[in-house]
Amino acid sequence: MSHPLLNIHQISIGFQTDNGFRETLQQVDFQLYKNEILGIVGESGSGKSLTSLAVLGLLPSSAKITEGEILYNGEDLSTLSTKQLRKIRGKEISMIFQEPMSSLNPSMKCGPQVTEILLEHTALSKKEAKAETLRLFEKVKLPRPESIYDVYPHQIS
Ligand SMILES: Nc1ncnc2c1ncn2[C@@H]1O[C@H](COP(=O)(O)OP(=O)(O)O)[C@@H](O)[C@H]1O
Ligand SMILES: [Mg+2]
Repeated sequence: MSHPLLNIHQISIGFQTDNGFRETLQQVDFQLYKNEILGIVGESGSGKSLTSLAVLGLLPSSAKITEGEILYNGEDLSTLSTKQLRKIRGKEISMIFQEPMSSLNPSMKCGPQVTEILLEHTALSKKEAKAETLRLFEKVKLPRPESIYDVYPHQIS
């Protein structure tokens, strides 16, 4: 096989706490190749979320990667600017957060929250992006896509 698409190479992550710096994750190491699906299983608190957040550059400000590197397509993600990372985030690497009620923006209707991502990452017009959003809602079998498009998150279960 060629080189991995995503190479989590021996990363350690720690937190600044009131009692000083504490290393939380030690030398996490795995590789993901194109078209591979990898499930990471572990008890609560074992570091699944931290590892994923590190890949996206979304660790809390008190956290720090103390060693290792995260290579995407051979490129060290930690060396990318926020702007470069934004091009990848939400398009090539995405996170589906737990707790959908707190992941959606409560002050924005449901449809436009998806359309926004498409406008950011594709050449679609506003009208096309809305059509694509409705198509995606249908694809994942949301009932009445048009009405879900136009409601706020708290209005649906
Ligand atoms: N903001 C934080 N400050 C200090 N420690 C944290 C913070 N967030 C997570 N941790 C610690 O990091 C470890 C891994 O957490 P996490 O990645 O959320 O686990 P998982 O997703 O596998 O349940 C846990 O021991 C947790 O206590
Ligand atoms: Mg978690």
